[in-house]
Amino acid sequence: MPVTRRVLLTLLTAVLVASGLGHPARAGAAPAAEAKAAAPSRVSYDAHSLTVDGERVFVRAAEFHYFRLPSPALWRDILEKYKAAGFNTVSLYFSWAYHSPKRGVYDFTGVRDVDKLLRTAEDLGLWVVARPGPYINAETSGGGFPAWLKRVPGRARSSEAGYTAAYREWLAHINPILARHQVDRGGSVLLYNVENEYQANTDAQYMQDLQDTARADGITVPITTNVCCDAASWASTWGSGLGAVQIPGVDDYPQTFDCASYETVWGDWGEGVTERIRPDAPGYAAEYQAGAIDLDNAGYEACRKLTGVPYMKYFQKNNLVQSGSTLLSYYMGFGGTNWGWLGQPNDVYTSYDYGAAITEARQLTAKYDEFKRQNYFQRAVTPLTSTDAAPGPASSNAALSTAARVNTAEGTQIVLLRHTDRAAVSDDRATLDWATPDGRYQVPVRLIGRDAKLFLAGYDLGGQRLVYSTSELLTHEPIGGRDVAVLYGTGGTAGETVLRYSSRPKVTVLDGKVASSFSGGDLRLSYTHQGLARVLITGGGRRPLLLMLGTDASAATFWRADTASGPVLVRGTDLLRSASSRGSSLSLRADTATAGPIEIWSGTAGGAQPSLLGSQGRATTVTVNGLRVNTNATASGSVVGRLPGPAKVRLPQLSGWQGKAEAPEAKPGFDDARWRVADAGLPSDDYGFHSGAVWYRGRFTATGAETSIDLNAITGRRGVYLVWLDGRYLGSAAGGTQADSDAPINPDPGPGHFAVPPGVLKGGQQAVVSVLVQNMGNNDDWTADDNRFRQPRGLVRASIAGGGDVTWRIQGARGGEDLPDPVRGPLNLGGLYGERAGWTLPGHVAWPRAQWAAPAGVTWFRTEFALDLPRAQDTSLALRFPGTPPAGQRVQLFLNGWNLGHYGGQIGPQTDFVLPAGVLKEHGSNTLALSVVATAPGTVTPPVLVTAGTQRGGPGLVP
Ligand code: GAL
Repeated sequence: MPVTRRVLLTLLTAVLVASGLGHPARAGAAPAAEAKAAAPSRVSYDAHSLTVDGERVFVRAAEFHYFRLPSPALWRDILEKYKAAGFNTVSLYFSWAYHSPKRGVYDFTGVRDVDKLLRTAEDLGLWVVARPGPYINAETSGGGFPAWLKRVPGRARSSEAGYTAAYREWLAHINPILARHQVDRGGSVLLYNVENEYQANTDAQYMQDLQDTARADGITVPITTNVCCDAASWASTWGSGLGAVQIPGVDDYPQTFDCASYETVWGDWGEGVTERIRPDAPGYAAEYQAGAIDLDNAGYEACRKLTGVPYMKYFQKNNLVQSGSTLLSYYMGFGGTNWGWLGQPNDVYTSYDYGAAITEARQLTAKYDEFKRQNYFQRAVTPLTSTDAAPGPASSNAALSTAARVNTAEGTQIVLLRHTDRAAVSDDRATLDWATPDGRYQVPVRLIGRDAKLFLAGYDLGGQRLVYSTSELLTHEPIGGRDVAVLYGTGGTAGETVLRYSSRPKVTVLDGKVASSFSGGDLRLSYTHQGLARVLITGGGRRPLLLMLGTDASAATFWRADTASGPVLVRGTDLLRSASSRGSSLSLRADTATAGPIEIWSGTAGGAQPSLLGSQGRATTVTVNGLRVNTNATASGSVVGRLPGPAKVRLPQLSGWQGKAEAPEAKPGFDDARWRVADAGLPSDDYGFHSGAVWYRGRFTATGAETSIDLNAITGRRGVYLVWLDGRYLGSAAGGTQADSDAPINPDPGPGHFAVPPGVLKGGQQAVVSVLVQNMGNNDDWTADDNRFRQPRGLVRASIAGGGDVTWRIQGARGGEDLPDPVRGPLNLGGLYGERAGWTLPGHVAWPRAQWAAPAGVTWFRTEFALDLPRAQDTSLALRFPGTPPAGQRVQLFLNGWNLGHYGGQIGPQTDFVLPAGVLKEHGSNTLALSVVATAPGTVTPPVLVTAGTQRGGPGLVP
């Protein structure tokens, strides 16, 4: 999908526009969307921003896939981490496939309880961009289309009748849930997104029907869609016509998905400036790249580097200023896991870590810090919600240039400084000739390497007036009757901050080295960014200001949260989940990875006046995670205390493994009488077997002249099939993959040719050929061409050279679309014997001790382990397979019955598989089962448990 998408879309658009087809408004369609959209909503918009109850808002969102975290208790953890990073919105795809195993059957319970998800967002005060598709892409099997849809006639993603009836069924289930959680009804859903990157083979009637259906189902908030690749499409500016949405958003992936080339890629897919599609709607970056799929199996750490802090600084800040977008949604904030058969096989393996700011194991990275720095800034600087583009101050050095935005009402300037040559890595200095709202200044600046800065001028910083600063603003908070502000810059570089006063204020440097001078109403502070300097400024006709001047690193140590008695700032913890105050006591929920100091600024703890004067501020009661913390007041008006770190985590050795070889289906005498006769063709879809392994058994009367068995199976990339003749293993072949625009990267390996060994078959004898096909999931429908998505799975061709007719029987996952295990759902199990027999589930088995050898075929290993992880602590565990993934083996790992991964050399580079708490019993017994499909005999390396991170605190603690 991704490699060819730009080329493909450009071509498609050219054809569509030339033919007039890509342009419904011009095709004379009735303008229906706008009229329908007029239902009253608390959410409105103009060209600058969204408004909620008339108030401008800046939407800072990150994408989250609940279906990639099968543990509802941990949804809160991720959403708390989003909120703590300063996001105020979560963008959520809702996956049709995840909820519907069979036509007419829907499940919204357990790990599918999206009502709970939306309630969690509401509890945390996060808005939601709801993206129910019906098509979502997202590297999910079928792009979110349920597998049963493959057999429904009528082109998918069109207004054809069969498909229309099917998607209306889905919308009839999901829309009412979303509707009752809208901002308009006191909930969190702020925007409703129809379809996904619908730029090829478009059908305006379909887009219109999605919106009409949403409105009929009670959706009243503005409707959006995410546009890919080509902004000049039917969803664009001409679009008051059929199918046009109110606020089109644009997807931008400037850094490509070429993680292996992270050292050289720098905006190879463009500048990443979000194009504004409708002049009457705010700019909306619907999916802005914040990670990548690992197309070239480089491992997700490479993807994290590809989209690391320099990328975020340069591209995100550039976009903010150049596009003026006030809705920014980052894809992904946390990626999660393609557990079971959730993933689309051509682009992803089990992990969907995505190189995101929060790892698959829920750990925070340097990217998280950068999000925090940028989000806190965007939150604090409310003038950002309504700006116009303006020229930036002239730079004395051509290597550095500026761009700016100016607030439409107050004139506050937001100035971007970056290298003129986007690729430059040099260390450059310049003087800016800066006409600020408060006067003209010659301002020295410096930029090192791939970086960008956002400077403010003419800004009302709480009760202060910031004339300008060459430090970036993290945040400023009114705490205890004064302003507490944090500014930062690149470590070792000079910074200058100018504030305006009516008379000379008193400047007390509490920490660090800061020079000050006062002239003409300007207090000029000059310093080098280093550690964390602290300056207290009093008098001068304004309320006091505590200014802290730090570096990127020290700025990232701050957390902010709101309480009933105002905001708090906290330093020293590894996360601040929430804060609340009652009377004079302050309760924090915070995580610590090591023991160490905590520092708190709040209206409750410390007391403003005494500590402000540097005297002994009385620390009121502070609790962290419900435990009292002794604190002392500081000269900075804060209180400091110490927090304990996490307890040591002791993991059990995995031992007592039992093993069992299976694949009885390969034996001639196996009783397959209850299997379906494959009389409607060979592909497994037709029999309701959509995920994982499928067995075929073909009976025939031998002629004795058979020379070969010729097969082809289509499995999706990374699939395989194994063949036996009368119990004798003949070998394996790679499964075929999609043959479309992606063919160059996913070549179809072609049919498998298996020679019949001489003497095995005798004329007149009954014989059985057994084939195990390892399906890997369905293709997506990104190009909306239907063929790709409908491509069959399983055997597509089978013949015996020199032989006669074969009668085939087929068996896949037990029950097919009638799930025996709706809790784990349609994407959990395939049709291996052990899967059908429940060997994945907890319970006793009496198998021999594991020998760690796997003959060609299928072997199972099982063990149990007990855990008692430290309480009041968040520990993330993973199962690690030591060494390099073996070429001839593919292992499925089941934890307590949940299929948490696929391991093997032909699948991907992944060796660590996250075991999410919830599925993992942290205080109890766990059952681990491994199925090994081996294409050649080999030894198996047993996995071990490892800790992927542990912090005292965690999402479970309520103060
Ligand atoms: C976008 C798409 C997303 C996801 C992403 C790549 O084009 O809208 O669903 O597939 O690409 O990860």
